Amino acid sequence: MKAKIAASILTADAANLGNAARQAEMAGADYLHVDVMDGHFVPNITFGPTVVAALRKVTNLPLDVHLMIEQPERHITAFAEAGAHILTVQVEACVHLHRVVQQMRELGVKPGVALNPATPLASIEEILGDLELVLIMTVNPGFGGQRLIPATLDKLQRLRQKTEAIGWHGELEVDGGINPATVAAAVQAGANVLVVGAGLYNTGTTLAEAMAHLRKAMGD
Ligand code: DX5
Ligand code: ZN
Repeated sequence: MKAKIAASILTADAANLGNAARQAEMAGADYLHVDVMDGHFVPNITFGPTVVAALRKVTNLPLDVHLMIEQPERHITAFAEAGAHILTVQVEACVHLHRVVQQMRELGVKPGVALNPATPLASIEEILGDLELVLIMTVNPGFGGQRLIPATLDKLQRLRQKTEAIGWHGELEVDGGINPATVAAAVQAGANVLVVGAGLYNTGTTLAEAMAHLRKAMGD
């Protein structure tokens, strides 16, 4: 099946996020990826539930909300009510991951868990069956426009082998440094959702052109 593109608005024009969302939808993105950062779990600070709710009104794209925050259990109700379709928490930020995942299910959102580059796959082994999405961070979280860390694709490949062996059918997402030069390797390693920020919004071309370039590199 064709891999999905999640357009990340992190490095889009912050004064025109509605426009960035509409452009992604028109260019054929599958998800809109919203990076929430709290200045604690990662050094940067970005969007809150208000921005998610505002985006919900201007796009029909499913909102793929990536929470790079400490104590995410304190905020997931607000993000679910704001219109998030998928909520992904960082495994490193969750002391009671099982409870957080059940909380997301009760709120009617798809639960996802993200792993930093140095976090082993074993950290999600016991909870995989409860998840709809696993996000393998291909950079250290915090900023857009970084270079993909090659070893993370090896980890992704091992996870793909495992999910096939056990018949898990959730989504495997990669995030960070995905562009026309790296996208084929990510798909090859088993990704079926590709988060792309700078590779769509900061290319010096239109979003539609950047999207076409990306799809071509993926062999679509
Ligand atoms: C990084 C964020 C990413 C970011 C990816 O911490 O989680 O979603 O937007 O941006 P690019 O595609 O520019 O690496
Ligand atoms: Zn992200």
